Amino acid sequence: MGNVMTAARPGDGLKTEKAPGHWVLARMGKRVLRPGGMELTRRMLAALNVKGSDDVVEFAPGMGVTARLTLATKPASYTAVERDKAAAEIVGGYLDGPNSRCVLGSAAETGLPSASATVVYGEAMLTMQTDETKRQIVREAARLLKPGGRYAVHEMCLRDGVGGEVRRDVERALTGVVHHGVRPLTVSEWRGLLEEEGFEVKTVETAAMALLEPARVIQDEGFLRALRFAFNVLRDREARRRVFEMRRVFRRHRRQLAAVAVIAVRA
Ligand SMILES: C[S@@+](CC[C@H](N)C(=O)[O-])C[C@H]1O[C@@H](n2cnc3c(N)ncnc32)[C@H](O)[C@@H]1O
Repeated sequence: MGNVMTAARPGDGLKTEKAPGHWVLARMGKRVLRPGGMELTRRMLAALNVKGSDDVVEFAPGMGVTARLTLATKPASYTAVERDKAAAEIVGGYLDGPNSRCVLGSAAETGLPSASATVVYGEAMLTMQTDETKRQIVREAARLLKPGGRYAVHEMCLRDGVGGEVRRDVERALTGVVHHGVRPLTVSEWRGLLEEEGFEVKTVETAAMALLEPARVIQDEGFLRALRFAFNVLRDREARRRVFEMRRVFRRHRRQLAAVAVIAVRA
């Protein structure tokens, strides 16, 4: 069977067997692609407290689920920066009005003006970068924000104390099944990265890393969409292999993995 999405297909040009895991899930109809699910997203948004006076930049909106929640708060402006052309088109479809847009490009170098935002956030997009690019993206967030502006990240994390050979095993296993670099930091390392780039950490929230657990999929997608996702996965042999392989590895390392949201303020 072909891939399920008919219009814009994220990760286009890549077959299911080669595509990064998040695009395999998206093509099967999954929209929520972050490790702590909508519950952690909601806690992150509550801490960010976006208001009508805020100029918001979202890094890597993916299928635009958080974008829609943010837009519902009617910020003064909303700019998404997304690297994938098809995802950018999907997010673009949710935008209306002159003050919202989706820019195709990298969060490491957005080309947006300095000190133009009061809120920046990104979910499930730093973990997949090298250490150097993680830092560049956090630095870019600091450049975009006005002093006092809020920055939030929602990422996969290693439980504190996971290091050495175990850490290398987890990274290797995740990267092997996701088909993209997956390099989660510990909670202290995520905090440290933000602090080193000029942020003061205000809130840290954690959740289980349960992206592909049935209860979480239903919680995140709603019953009908979850059912459709399961149906799509089950009838596509290659997608089924990829999704079950990812879930097996997530389960095997559930004692080492979690999800974290760090909310910080630019000094
Ligand atoms: C795992 S998905 C997460 C999508 C969405 N934030 C979510 O949580 O559901 C990763 C997203 O990051 C985007 N991405 C990765 N690196 C990026 C970069 N340097 N700049 C902008 N977007 C990037 C991908 O295209 C993809 O949309």
